Amino acid sequence: MQVHDLKNELASVIKDLKARVEFEKTFGIDVISLARQKMVKIPPPVIAHKKDAPEDSAPQAKPFNKKPSPKNDDKEKLLEDLKNETLVCHQCPLSKTRTNLVFGVGNPMAGLMFVGEAPGRDEDLQGEPFVGRAGQLLTKIIEAIGMKRSDVYIANILKCRPPGNRNPLPDEIALCIPALIKQIDIIQPKVLCALGTFAAQTLLNTKTPIGSLRGKFHDYKGIPTMATFHPAYLLRNPNEKGKVWEDMKKVRDLLKELLNK
Ligand code: URA
Repeated sequence: MQVHDLKNELASVIKDLKARVEFEKTFGIDVISLARQKMVKIPPPVIAHKKDAPEDSAPQAKPFNKKPSPKNDDKEKLLEDLKNETLVCHQCPLSKTRTNLVFGVGNPMAGLMFVGEAPGRDEDLQGEPFVGRAGQLLTKIIEAIGMKRSDVYIANILKCRPPGNRNPLPDEIALCIPALIKQIDIIQPKVLCALGTFAAQTLLNTKTPIGSLRGKFHDYKGIPTMATFHPAYLLRNPNEKGKVWEDMKKVRDLLKELLNK
């Protein structure tokens, strides 16, 4: 190996290690496994296909995203048009109690897209998803896998805040989901990450609990979709943070693999 290759390899290992230490520090985990990840061949991603998919899941498409993607320049325009259409939505009573509709934020060309549940108080006030405490944790999670918040796209199942942050109602989900489906169709991320019960169960069309869905890739219209715990749940249950780290490493590795194809 050439000296400069060795230097690059070393720099990359150190960068990875720093990200892991930072993540695990954030998450209050004191034991760090120092397995030499760079040297280990990454096992192929586990995608839950029909055979092991939950019985009540929707018929799923092929395991990978084959749909022709809108050209990059068009994505921004298509998203902007969709946003303008969505901003004037008054289909459900949440439009009467919202301060702002929270459409979504991030890179229209993102390889990775996160889907949460619904705006909370801070998001309703600022018109941007995941800006409160849970959002700050999500930003740290994104940074821990070596990305910036501005690299990814973030949206929610519901675009308007349910009063008092109550759970989304089935009718609200049914009325709001077409906007999210269109967002995903435009962005066509390489990998989706569903945060928490509502996002995972809605995208995967299942009633299977998040504790069983998490940790493996499922299939949403050909896009590998990781389900993991919601950052707000992690704030209440810090002992579960290690599981999210495990899930996010799988997301990072699959994304890297798909982007290098
Ligand atoms: N929780 C969510 O699910 N989405 C947000 O935007 C904020 C908190």
